Amino acid sequence: MSSVLRTSLLSILLLCLSSFLTASSASFAVTARLSCSPPPPSPPCKAIPETADWPSTASWARLNESTGGRLLRPPPPGAVCHPGQATYNATECPLVQSGWSTYDFHQADPVSTDWNQWNNDSCLPQEGYQCSGQGYPVFVVNATTAQHVKLGVDFARKHNIRLAVKSSGHDFLGRSAAPNSLSIWVHHLKDRLKTHDALTPKHCNFTINTTAVTAPGGTQMIELYSALAALNQTVVGGGGRTVSVGGYLTGGGHSLLSARYGLAADQVLEMEVVTPTGEIVTANECQNQDLFWAMRGGGGSTFGILTSVTMKTFPSPQIVNLEFIIVTGNIGSPSIFEMIAYVLGQFPSLGDQGLAGYSFFFPALSNPLEGGGNGTVAGILLSVVLQDSTVDAMDKLWEPIIEHVNSTWPSEFVFIYNVTTFPSFYDWYQVHYDTSAAGLNTYIGSRLLDAEALTRNLTLNADVFRRFASGGMGTAYLVAGKGVHDAEPRGGGNAVCPAWRKAYVHATFEVQFAPLDVPARAEALERVRHYLEPLRKLSPDSGAYMNEADPEEPDWQHQFWGDNYERLVRIKRAVDPDDVLWCTPCVGNERWQQVGDRLCRV
Ligand SMILES: Cc1cc2nc3c(=O)[nH]c(=O)nc-3n(C[C@H](O)[C@H](O)[C@H](O)COP(=O)(O)OP(=O)(O)OC[C@H]3O[C@@H](n4cnc5c(N)ncnc54)[C@H](O)[C@@H]3O)c2cc1C
Ligand SMILES: *[C@@H]1O[C@H](CO)[C@@H](O)[C@H](O)[C@H]1NC(C)=O
Ligand SMILES: *[C@@H]1O[C@H](CO)[C@@H](O)[C@H](O)[C@H]1NC(C)=O
Ligand SMILES: *[C@@H]1O[C@H](CO)[C@@H](O)[C@H](O)[C@H]1NC(C)=O
Ligand SMILES: *[C@@H]1O[C@H](CO)[C@@H](O)[C@H](O)[C@H]1NC(C)=O
Ligand SMILES: *[C@@H]1O[C@H](CO)[C@@H](O)[C@H](O)[C@H]1NC(C)=O
Ligand SMILES: *[C@@H]1O[C@H](CO)[C@@H](O)[C@H](O)[C@H]1NC(C)=O
Ligand SMILES: *[C@@H]1O[C@H](CO)[C@@H](O)[C@H](O)[C@H]1NC(C)=O
Ligand SMILES: *[C@@H]1O[C@H](CO)[C@@H](O)[C@H](O)[C@H]1NC(C)=O
Ligand SMILES: *[C@@H]1O[C@H](CO)[C@@H](O)[C@H](O)[C@H]1NC(C)=O
Ligand SMILES: *[C@@H]1O[C@H](CO)[C@@H](O)[C@H](O)[C@H]1NC(C)=O
Ligand SMILES: *[C@@H]1O[C@H](CO)[C@@H](O)[C@H](O)[C@H]1NC(C)=O
Repeated sequence: MSSVLRTSLLSILLLCLSSFLTASSASFAVTARLSCSPPPPSPPCKAIPETADWPSTASWARLNESTGGRLLRPPPPGAVCHPGQATYNATECPLVQSGWSTYDFHQADPVSTDWNQWNNDSCLPQEGYQCSGQGYPVFVVNATTAQHVKLGVDFARKHNIRLAVKSSGHDFLGRSAAPNSLSIWVHHLKDRLKTHDALTPKHCNFTINTTAVTAPGGTQMIELYSALAALNQTVVGGGGRTVSVGGYLTGGGHSLLSARYGLAADQVLEMEVVTPTGEIVTANECQNQDLFWAMRGGGGSTFGILTSVTMKTFPSPQIVNLEFIIVTGNIGSPSIFEMIAYVLGQFPSLGDQGLAGYSFFFPALSNPLEGGGNGTVAGILLSVVLQDSTVDAMDKLWEPIIEHVNSTWPSEFVFIYNVTTFPSFYDWYQVHYDTSAAGLNTYIGSRLLDAEALTRNLTLNADVFRRFASGGMGTAYLVAGKGVHDAEPRGGGNAVCPAWRKAYVHATFEVQFAPLDVPARAEALERVRHYLEPLRKLSPDSGAYMNEADPEEPDWQHQFWGDNYERLVRIKRAVDPDDVLWCTPCVGNERWQQVGDRLCRV
């Protein structure tokens, strides 16, 4: 059983079920460098510590000095559990082992990432596993200023070293990890958040009449939410407490508030960016417009490193929260996915009426709760909200739906319906932030679904969603809709996948697998692809949400960016002619490939 559970809904389900079962059963200003001498021959691969072109100890020491001693050579975090490793420590090992399943642990470490395969399972914190630094960066700049970032970027460019950028390390596609690299750890780009009642972007001759906040590039959701809560404001932000603006905003960023205001990338008014050529620039609708366009949806660690962002803020809404479960113990009944297709078919209309949130559906979920019996159920769980609304309005939305399900499939389903209200977004969030686990080996796939796909043919959809969820659990996040369709990003647009502009639902499927098992890893990716295939067929012209997607999504260039892709590549070539930033699957990465643990020209 596996899924990206965004809330503690599953535990709520299990509690509810236990009672139920026991009771009843460019205009880009930074120009490419002008060069008069012929270019030196390009090395075929990036340098690694074993090659002659790797910088000398003295060179690294100079980088360290220039950054004020902020260069780290971190051991793999799991090394404390391996006798023989320099940092072996029997007292610390159990702390690392218990921290491993938490987001907090990985975000606080200079090199750790959430999903083991991205560090190549190379030092898991259990004795018996191998331990080497092989899957981790070699050096790290612990940056606290844009200048530190620039020094790291310049060094990597000059010395032909693979460059990585890590903030929280939460990336599902492994884009914040790289072997044999110099990593810029942007997590400590933190400072007091600066709020605005109106904003004049740098070099613009007008003022934007909106409240806004300026946050450093390492800022995390919880920091934004808590600081803004003091002002009764909030931002379009994500569910994970330690997700950072760096990867989230540059990837698009969906939110409970998106149905109302648009994606996170749509809220951005200005960015400070360290470019791959080492310039510290401001990008907004009046200068560096191409970079501004690309950095809002074009992906992280591709066009530059975000050191500060200014985005709109909104009055914090009061939240009406619904936890709703529709299940049956009659596993295998054809009604189950007919019901699910019907409920998901209501999402466009519900979304237009302001509903937002998350849903999870499954053909069979066994109830592992102690004392919960051995019942297995099938159906759907919803964790959804209305903003600035009433319990009555929530009830009115669902009454006809419950009525329809109950009369179409009489006495087939059990309804567990629980509405509560929260005075502010932050009050809601403190209960409903994403509590899922980290420290696993996992892949996710994504599909964006529009109204037509969700409503055109419910008979077909029953089969589509049945096949989609047959591998365990499917999700349908109602995180797009009107606000995303009607968004008016500054400067006339941004690079977000055009499929978002028609979507209501971002559907995901997740598969976990055992570490250090090459066939299991390949099979997991195959499974993700296999279970998403029915959704791909259902919405062939749609796309996928890059930040929560299959890293080897077929035709990822267009699935993640649609027809924005070609413009994005042109901007990538203009801002990063030497491919200083490289990740996969990332815009314009086609000239290089990873061979073993080396990055080489194609
Ligand atoms: C618990 C959890 C909940 C989530 N909830 C949501 C959600 O509600 N909505 C949503 O849309 N997504 C959500 N996500 C997905 C999230 O958007 C991605 O995981 C995203 O990549 C995280 O960005 P990060 O900067 O925190 O992570 P990292 O792994 O550190 O970075 C991700 C990517 O961005 C790059 N990057 C990071 N910082 C910078 C920077 N300053 N400048 C340039 N590049 C940078 C990295 O190199 C990497 O390519 C969630 C993820 C988790 C783990
Ligand atoms: C960088 O310098 C600091 C302080 O001078 C030192 O503690 C640290 O070990 C150095 N880093 C590396 C990688 O040598
Ligand atoms: C091991 O870790 C503990 C707790 O952090 C620390 O107090 C102790 O000094 C460490 N031991 C060694 C040998 O480094
Ligand atoms: C990184 O820098 C921050 C801010 O100065 C500091 O608090 C932290 O201890 C540093 N981390 C490491 C591993 O040196
Ligand atoms: C603002 O700048 C634009 C473009 O440079 C110019 O066309 C416009 O007249 C200016 N407006 C004001 C009020 O100065
Ligand atoms: C700014 O917007 C607010 C709210 O929409 C409005 O009341 C106010 O008049 C606007 N101010 C200006 C200067 O346009
Ligand atoms: C926030 O809202 C509360 C409750 O409505 C109010 O008492 C408080 O003054 C507000 N704070 C600010 C900074 O507006
Ligand atoms: C639970 O499962 C056990 C073993 O499979 C079985 O013997 C028992 O009858 C089941 N109980 C119920 C209530 O289904
Ligand atoms: C479902 O229908 C039955 C029979 O008409 C009725 O008794 C029951 O209250 C209904 N349940 C819900 C949740 O509406
Ligand atoms: C309903 O939800 C609230 C808030 O999450 C919770 O405290 C309460 O126990 C739930 N009630 C039921 C019957 O599950
Ligand atoms: C809906 O899909 C079903 C199953 O694929 C198909 O048999 C039926 O003809 C479709 N209905 C319409 C109106 O297209
Ligand atoms: C991962 O580790 C294996 C050895 O366990 C090695 O053969 C392989 O090249 C590594 N892959 C990468 C991408 O570093």
